[in-house]
Amino acid sequence: MKFFQLVGRVGAASLVVLGALAVPALPAAAQSASKAPQGPPPLLLGTAWYPEQWPESRWPADIALMNKAHIRFVRVGEFAWSAMEPAEGDYHFGWLERAINEAGQHGIYTVIGTPTAAPPAWLTQKYPETLRTMRDGQKAQHGNRQQFNWDNPKYRELAHDIASRLAQRFGHNPYVIGWQIDNEYSQVSYDPQTRVDFQAWLKQHYGTLQNLNARWTTSYWSQTYSNWNQIPIGVGRGNPGLKLSWMRFVSDTWASYQKNQLDAIRPYATQRQFITTNMMGWFSGYDHYIVAKDLDIAAWDDYVGQGHLNPYKNGSADDLTRGFKRKNFWIMETQPGHVNWAGINNDLDKGEVRAMAWENVGHGADAVSYWQWRSAMNGQEEYHGTLIGADGTPTPVYYEVQQVGREFARTGTAIAGTQPKSQVAILHTYDSFWAINWQRHNKNYDPIAELLSYYKPLKQIAQSVDIVQPTVSLSSYKLVVAPGLNVLSEAAAKNLIAYVKNGGHLVLGQRAGMKDNDNALQPERQPGPLKALLGGRVEQYYALENPVPVDGQFGANTSKMWAEMLQVSSPETKVLETYGKSNGWLDGKPAIITRQVGKGSITYVGVWMDDAGMHRLAEWMTKTSGVTPAFGPVPDGVDVNARYAANRAIYVLTNFTPAEETVTLPATMTDLLHGGTVHQVQLGHYGVAVLSEKTAQ
Ligand code: GAL
Repeated sequence: MKFFQLVGRVGAASLVVLGALAVPALPAAAQSASKAPQGPPPLLLGTAWYPEQWPESRWPADIALMNKAHIRFVRVGEFAWSAMEPAEGDYHFGWLERAINEAGQHGIYTVIGTPTAAPPAWLTQKYPETLRTMRDGQKAQHGNRQQFNWDNPKYRELAHDIASRLAQRFGHNPYVIGWQIDNEYSQVSYDPQTRVDFQAWLKQHYGTLQNLNARWTTSYWSQTYSNWNQIPIGVGRGNPGLKLSWMRFVSDTWASYQKNQLDAIRPYATQRQFITTNMMGWFSGYDHYIVAKDLDIAAWDDYVGQGHLNPYKNGSADDLTRGFKRKNFWIMETQPGHVNWAGINNDLDKGEVRAMAWENVGHGADAVSYWQWRSAMNGQEEYHGTLIGADGTPTPVYYEVQQVGREFARTGTAIAGTQPKSQVAILHTYDSFWAINWQRHNKNYDPIAELLSYYKPLKQIAQSVDIVQPTVSLSSYKLVVAPGLNVLSEAAAKNLIAYVKNGGHLVLGQRAGMKDNDNALQPERQPGPLKALLGGRVEQYYALENPVPVDGQFGANTSKMWAEMLQVSSPETKVLETYGKSNGWLDGKPAIITRQVGKGSITYVGVWMDDAGMHRLAEWMTKTSGVTPAFGPVPDGVDVNARYAANRAIYVLTNFTPAEETVTLPATMTDLLHGGTVHQVQLGHYGVAVLSEKTAQ
């Protein structure tokens, strides 16, 4: 099952840096090749290619077709363990080397995926402990993928071995530009050894059982532990402290699972080869900030599934991914038309695949890669979209991707070295996401939807938004918005207080500051440690059956699903919005409050208004904090993204309206797609403009 369906999934030295690095000395074999590697171009089009599924005699035709589409890299190998090691210790890397060199000699670079997401049958048969145990106690089986146990020492030994052998063979191959570890981490194991390891993790983090018992309040429901080995895993409705610890353990275990392979690759890989993994946007099965820490660049797999490209849903996941390393990222997979795992696997409209690629680039992607080149003739994904049909000739979308490739080639130099820079940050933590999600209190309360209700109007107004953790340095932001910062660690609280005291504008959304770092209630009411600075607090929260009315600075509106009755305790704290008549408790009570703190301010928003209300709120937030749009006015439905280098700005404009739109530019700019200078552009449905403006150094 795809995680888009589960959680609304909407994947550096960036290539720019890679491109700038010196091209390594070539081995004799490569020097005699027809085309010596120049280093990859700065903006890369790619595809997932599975040469092991085809006779070698077919490869030249594939590579020729890739070249015609301006594809400049292939990702290979990530499910090919049984082809690399058909029997234990019997390694076959010759075919992979021939595929890499054949592509490379025709100007196509390679990212090698380590094959550990799909262990071969001999492996799990001989070492059954490497199979993961599902929550119901059943063992996963061979025949699908992701059947491995991410915590199992034997599996890690075998994963280290195959990754290290790949790196020894290809770590200096001039055509290999990077590595992808495994593929879309997601499935965990509930086996007895994992439970023991979790208990050891807890001991390390809590020190004593007395401390753990106190912080989890285990006196509740007689949960008190007198031995570490009593602590369970896989409890559905478990203690919130235990659940949060389990997810932190899961995240750390993915990080160490990944580190095991990083350590296998790094000693043999040249510096110019980056290491990444392909993540899944808003998927929340682990803390991505923890897992991304050891990687060189972040990457994610951008799929739409059923329906159409949503610049806020997909775009916010780009911004989220950019926030993992706080630099440009890669789209390691995206859909060539349609997928095979959604309810209705409709195709993207003509022009939409191209618009999607450019949206990614606008948000900071330096590479866009299509999954997949050609379908295996059998296997679970026969119906998935591809660039090449079963007959080996282009599908209709191939030509659209070819256009993208042509455009990447044309604009790459101008885009090289640029990256997004925002005046607005939205804060996000996995701890808070999980905490709200486990105790929604209103079944419809989706924390990502809440975040997006702020993201959308802020993106429309500011045209550029970062999504970052609350512990990063915030001083470069004029406005910081924390929609659902439910779990507020001491470090985050300190950082936010310092930000406001230094003149920053902080807006807290519903459910902020309710929990401490153990997912326990804060001893002070919301927003906990920020209460004093706010000069107010949440008096009570109400899950709503029906929306309740609010009125004030942002006009008459309603709060849906949830309403927080606020109270003001400082004369400096102003009420911006008040509840109308509903359940009696809320009637006439403050709904949004704000306090000026020196040049900065702190605001608490106790309501979740409709789109129009959130838009007015965003207008007020950006105005009071002095946020200016990255580009300038555009017609509704035209999305703008901006990337910067010291001397220039690059703007990517995409028209999501069905009509043709005219955009008058704030200055004369260079039209990178068509050449020449322009002061106005016409954009059809899904039309794209890529513009460059000189800026003062
Ligand atoms: C991704 C996965 C690919 C392929 C693709 C289909 O999640 O990494 O291997 O299955 O989905 O959409």
